[in-house]
Amino acid sequence: VEVRPQSGHYVKLRAASVPAEPEAVKLPAARCVPRMGELVLRVLSAGREPKKVQLGSGAVDPELLPTRRLMKLTAAVARVHAERCVRYEAPEGAKELRTLLARRSVEWGCPMRADEIVITTGAMEAMELSLRATTKAGDAVAVESPTVYWLLQLLEQLGLVVVELPTYPRHGICLDELEAAITAHDVKACLLVPSFNNPLGSCMPDEKRRDLVALLAAKKVTLIEDDVYGDLHHDGARPRPVKAFDERGEVLTCGSFSKTLAPGLRVGFVAAGAWRDRLVLMKGSQTGATATLPQLAVAEFLRSGGYDHHLRSFRRVLRLNLQRLSAVVGETFPEGTRMTRPAGGMFSWVEMPDHVDALALFERADAQRIMFAPGPVFSASGRYRNCLRLSFAQPWTDRFENALRTLGKLAREQART
Ligand SMILES: Cc1ncc(COP(=O)(O)O)c(C=O)c1O
Repeated sequence: VEVRPQSGHYVKLRAASVPAEPEAVKLPAARCVPRMGELVLRVLSAGREPKKVQLGSGAVDPELLPTRRLMKLTAAVARVHAERCVRYEAPEGAKELRTLLARRSVEWGCPMRADEIVITTGAMEAMELSLRATTKAGDAVAVESPTVYWLLQLLEQLGLVVVELPTYPRHGICLDELEAAITAHDVKACLLVPSFNNPLGSCMPDEKRRDLVALLAAKKVTLIEDDVYGDLHHDGARPRPVKAFDERGEVLTCGSFSKTLAPGLRVGFVAAGAWRDRLVLMKGSQTGATATLPQLAVAEFLRSGGYDHHLRSFRRVLRLNLQRLSAVVGETFPEGTRMTRPAGGMFSWVEMPDHVDALALFERADAQRIMFAPGPVFSASGRYRNCLRLSFAQPWTDRFENALRTLGKLAREQART
């Protein structure tokens, strides 16, 4: 029996119903020019409709974020630093925030220097600047597959060619396959989410991170690392960014506070190593600087200990929600459904039997005001027709659980046809 605050006592779901993990994705590395169109727009706009139950949203529900404390603190910071907040900030960003980030990175076992960090408008801008600095149109960039759709859209907009690498649910890409793809497709840069990636939730072990850096150094391939989920380990220690193993300053590590504090603040960063000056120049001519007030508010939240306090409880919620999610999927989805069991982050990837079409299921669920992210939006080459992404960064309410059960029922009906 489980007690849910202000809700009552509920019968706990049986662990026996937890689905098996998907096998390694066996598809070979594929090279293609991405064209992410209509479908992504549909999924994104469904994800913004408040009347829909968000089972697959990429954003953390504000109820799970320290919204009130953060806004109160932002108002106080605005009062204290009023004049500074109306001026242009330096393109590299507020020194307070860069210094605090550098201090935190020592705790992660990956010391970054404050003067190599550039504050950006979310991790998305950090990735864009990093890609623009290190590649040119027509270059091939290797990514995990499946991977988040906006990254594929970004590569499309920059005229880059995507090489989709098979990715393993637990430990990410396979280095032998990466090496073969680098040779076969003349890869110039690698763009990876090594810690709890979106959507699989895989996390590379330290040894693999070390070997990855050595391989890319030998092949002269740049690594752009997206670490936005690094702080969301459900247990144990935070994974060290791959940058921890880089001695040449060639790894660019991007991050943000969008998955932990508030995506609306748009505060991200990139520790750019040897690329720092180039990025500062580009940032200065692109947006001048990131808005000052959100930077100072995040810095104050970090300094006051509010961030770490929030993370401790947020991680507990994510861990518990994942258990609940697994149990309901195991109970209600078609027989043979598999699901990843990430050790961190906020997504799980569900693989239904081959003949269940996630796009048809998306339409049927949409009619019942239920939203999830169908598999094909996570591939530039139209893969993953029978897959979907679920999020567990939503409050676990009866409404959420009932919608998940309905989705499982719809999938079961579809599996029978
Ligand atoms: C891997 C990854 N990186 C970055 C982002 C977006 O980060 P931000 O909101 O800080 O730009 C997302 C959100 O979907 C993501 O999944």
